[in-house]
Amino acid sequence: MTSASGTEETTGPALECVDLTYSYGEAEMRFDLSVTAGEWLAVIGPSGAGKSTLLDLAAGFLEPTSGEIRMFGRDVASLAPAERPLSMVFQENNLFSHLTAFRNVALGIAPRLRVSPAQREAVEQALSDVGLAGYGNRLPSQMSGGERQRVALARAFVRDRPLILLDEPFAALGPALRQDMLALLATLRRRQGRTATVVMVTHHPEDAAAHADRVAYLENGAVAAIGEAREILSARTDERVARYLGIGRSDDRLADRV
Ligand SMILES: Nc1ncnc2c1ncn2[C@@H]1O[C@H](COP(=O)(O)OP(=O)(O)OP(=O)(O)O)[C@@H](O)[C@H]1O
Ligand SMILES: [Mg+2]
Repeated sequence: MTSASGTEETTGPALECVDLTYSYGEAEMRFDLSVTAGEWLAVIGPSGAGKSTLLDLAAGFLEPTSGEIRMFGRDVASLAPAERPLSMVFQENNLFSHLTAFRNVALGIAPRLRVSPAQREAVEQALSDVGLAGYGNRLPSQMSGGERQRVALARAFVRDRPLILLDEPFAALGPALRQDMLALLATLRRRQGRTATVVMVTHHPEDAAAHADRVAYLENGAVAAIGEAREILSARTDERVARYLGIGRSDDRLADRV
């Protein structure tokens, strides 16, 4: 599998944010977070909590006001998004509408779309891995929402980066398809003896429960709680998480009855 040079380091946490601050002009956001290599971290929290901002800072789409970002032990502050050891998938609009599925995936490894025979094979394989063999010539407008997200996943995987950031990637899909996509992600992130680290923003606690090792709960531009998925999602230790998840006293009484 083709892989970008300089992305092979796998020592230390996959992602570390130390006193990372950012401000859109109003209240300052401040993130402290460490994601272990190989883990799946779900990021939850109310709308406006700063989930996308955190991912955009990590990916290099936003420049922090202060603080440090390290990936696999390396300070990545001076690296452009494409140079960081990661791939990112957004909720939608991941694809260039004038490019075919093949070319949208190929962009992940051949930015000028001059594709070598080995790269062509890697792109075909990635499309096949996400169940889209034979879809290479389709334009995004000729595919369903789920198919488009699968193309975006294929592009993320063909890049073969050790860290995958996903910002509500399957939010626009129905429950069954969302589960299929998560299962696909769970399978594809483990290959060639390596497990890609996943940081995934989701509004679906059940998705976090099914796949995440740990869950980070964001509120007001900071990580308000982080811990094992089961512990955070049971919300026994944090009232703010309980409020966000809608777990209240009446539910507790209900839980006592069933
Ligand atoms: N480009 C921008 N200009 C000004 N303020 C912004 C901008 N983008 C985000 N914000 C503000 O920053 C805060 C955090 O936004 P962010 O998009 O990170 O939230 P989020 O947790 O991803 O929310 P959602 O769940 O709705 O996607 C919000 O208060 C938002 O209004
Ligand atoms: Mg967001």
